[in-house]
Amino acid sequence: MGLEPLRDGHGRLIGDLRVSVTDRCNFRCQYCMPAEGLPWLERAEILTFEEITRLVALLAAMGVGDIRLTGGEPLVRRGFPALVEMLSAIEAVDELSVTTNGFLLERDAQALVRAGVDRFNVSVDSLQRDRFFQLTRRDALPQVLRGLELLASFPEAYPIKVNAVAMRGFTEQEVLPFARFARRSPYEIRFIEFMPLDADRAWTPDRVLTGEEIRAAIDAVYPLEPEPREPHATARIYRFADGRGKIGFINPVSEPFCGDCNRIRLTADGRLRTCLFSLNETDLRAPLRAGAQDRELEQMIRDAVWRKELKHHVGEPGFIQPARSMSAIGG
Ligand code: 5AD
Ligand code: SF4
Repeated sequence: MGLEPLRDGHGRLIGDLRVSVTDRCNFRCQYCMPAEGLPWLERAEILTFEEITRLVALLAAMGVGDIRLTGGEPLVRRGFPALVEMLSAIEAVDELSVTTNGFLLERDAQALVRAGVDRFNVSVDSLQRDRFFQLTRRDALPQVLRGLELLASFPEAYPIKVNAVAMRGFTEQEVLPFARFARRSPYEIRFIEFMPLDADRAWTPDRVLTGEEIRAAIDAVYPLEPEPREPHATARIYRFADGRGKIGFINPVSEPFCGDCNRIRLTADGRLRTCLFSLNETDLRAPLRAGAQDRELEQMIRDAVWRKELKHHVGEPGFIQPARSMSAIGG
């Protein structure tokens, strides 16, 4: 049942949905959560698997075929592989991917690949155990690396992406180790600029280590050549000139890619967000639970998406950080 494609008021065609399946997490990354955690949503506030599946099916029928499952940490949601199975059964879903901190991959990688996950993004911010602990507040690097290795034994999960958030004063020391890791491992490493989505609100423009600074530092030791940019790609990919692997840079702060943005987000409690930095959101859970028909939900989604923000204003005077932090939005 193909519906009209989903378009915003700036002419952008929406093809990508990020679904946060839980706001909870077993890590406490400094750039995301406070050490003591956050007040979690109650179970009844969280969309059920059936509710998520209904909304994803509706959006997929409008051409939103790329579905990424995030959190919090999605693997802490009980029965998560069963949700993957329900979503991969939707014909209009083209690609199903998962963003995870990797802590539970040893337990779940096989079940998730079998259930139909096509792609994984695993967050790793340091390759040194003590520094990993410092940043994530969990001494979990060995377990995450074991999870990654297990994932790498499934050829159908390739290419496997590893994301590192880049913060000035921390990540400088990680740049060359990650470059060497990219050259010897099967993973595609990408650095992501630190964005003002941290619950502690410690973000300042000078804490952003830009992708260009990191690229130049790597290029000086291991020369890089740009790969052609794919439409809607957030990452600028470079290959090592000697042919040994690739490395990428996601530069939302220094080089915003809003003009090409085709993404929307659904929070764990059923709010539609049209930008990471949206200051307002559209509640889909209340109408869903009040028995709304698909065509009513469709109209609410179209109205919200029509008003999708033209661009974010990070770093500009008057920028207002959204109330939700990354863990409550879904990366
Ligand atoms: N800035 C940039 N990236 C962030 N992430 C979480 N918080 C931030 C932030 N403040 C990343 C995580 C993960 C993904 C879900 O979002 O590292 O890769
Ligand atoms: Fe958890 Fe991801 Fe936030 Fe880290 S960034 S605390 S892994 S939700």
